[in-house]
Amino acid sequence: MGRLRIQSLFSQGQAGQSVTVCGWVRSKRESKGIAFIALSDGSTQDTLQLVIPSESSAFHELPGCNTGAAIKASGIIRESPGKGQQFEIEVSTLAVMGNADSEHYPLQKKGHSLEFLRDIGHLRPRTNTFGAVLRVRNVLSQAVHEFFQSRGFIWIHTPIITSSDCEGAGDLFTVTSLDPGEIKKGDRDTFDYSQDFFGKRAYLTVSGQLEAEFLALSMGDVYTFGPTFRAENSNTSRHLSEFWMIEPEMAFADLNDDTSLAEQFIHFLCKRTVESCPDEIQFFEKFYKNTSIRELEALSEKKFARISYTEAIDELKKSGRKFEFPVEWGLDLQSEHERYLTDDVFQGPVTVTDYPKDIKAFYMRLNDDDRTVAAMDVLVPKIGEIIGGSQREERLDVLEARLQQAGIPLESIDWYLDLRRFGSAPHAGFGLGFERFVQYVTGMSNIRDVIPCPRAPHTIKF
Ligand code: 4AD
Ligand code: MG
Repeated sequence: MGRLRIQSLFSQGQAGQSVTVCGWVRSKRESKGIAFIALSDGSTQDTLQLVIPSESSAFHELPGCNTGAAIKASGIIRESPGKGQQFEIEVSTLAVMGNADSEHYPLQKKGHSLEFLRDIGHLRPRTNTFGAVLRVRNVLSQAVHEFFQSRGFIWIHTPIITSSDCEGAGDLFTVTSLDPGEIKKGDRDTFDYSQDFFGKRAYLTVSGQLEAEFLALSMGDVYTFGPTFRAENSNTSRHLSEFWMIEPEMAFADLNDDTSLAEQFIHFLCKRTVESCPDEIQFFEKFYKNTSIRELEALSEKKFARISYTEAIDELKKSGRKFEFPVEWGLDLQSEHERYLTDDVFQGPVTVTDYPKDIKAFYMRLNDDDRTVAAMDVLVPKIGEIIGGSQREERLDVLEARLQQAGIPLESIDWYLDLRRFGSAPHAGFGLGFERFVQYVTGMSNIRDVIPCPRAPHTIKF
């Protein structure tokens, strides 16, 4: 159609140039024989003002240009006399491609609630908020690759269907080609899966880590970026059943290398957001007041505080705060505890290391104290944990003992043990929850509002 995207028009257009633009009508108004349409095409935060003089034949098309209608307009770029934007279009021809019944189009008014918008997931990307979120997601996805590629990491693709339970937390979706009736309710764990499609029980992956480990132990430094799935029954503002995770894995690396990579990664992503999405961040700053360019700039340099789990427990105990969940060495940190550390104690990101072995996964390297592991979580204000990682247990005997304690049969993960038999090496990695990071930079308070199609218990319509 030879259309020019509004983003390109604002960044590269010239006054006097003839152009064709397409998009959806945000609003229309008429005054003194001249009409104005605010047009959006998703490519940028700004709408484009179309100016339609009454003597133009385009004027006759105006009745069809209701809010939500898809239109095509051709005309000349003019310097805009109005404040706020450089250009507008003086329209000569206008065509309505798809009209939108003004009685039924749900996005008539400005300022719908986020809850309301969740019910119209297929239309919400047309709003300023979701357009901005999705453009930030795009920039961040690209920045992930830029960060790792510029450091020589190799992008590997780990599987979505897998037979291993990486986290050992048991919150897996089973993948089967059998009829539901064949696996009787309640028998799912004892069922003989040899008759099933893969001849073995299969799941949607909760993490690409185990596969990333064998790829790191042959390729050096690798990363995977893909969807992961968790069947936790968590209805919170930071849990999804399907979320995207970035997982780097480095051979010949320890926990210090891991925490420093995590910090550099977050710095880089914050910096890129500020550079590439200033309009979007300004929008979030103005309307949601939870983020700002200044804050993100500061975050792109701020050194993360670092404390051990044991020190974190001491800090929480001496706070004098009444927490809902108990604070005791050996118990996991709950989000209220994490937020106390980030929001009150450190007022910024904090890396917590060396958690008790009993609350962490089997693969984390046992420390010399025999009760903690070389784990690290990065916590950030308002959200809590955005990164979980560790140095991996590279010693065969220690790993076998840990698996036995966790009740995981050694033969079920023999290939993983092989990596410790043949050319084992210290290695480490982490997982960054992509949606939690998008929440962090946009300030969106609910994780369901930073992904086009959120999956959560009883949520799958769109
Ligand atoms: O801490 P987690 O469970 O770590 C792992 O899966 C490791 N295998 C990663 C690794 O070392 N390669 O998850 C990592 C991150 C969390 O810090 C959080 O940001 C995000 O993934 N995450 C979720 N995000 C949205 N919804 C959920 N249900 C999430 N569960 C974890
Ligand atoms: Mg975790």
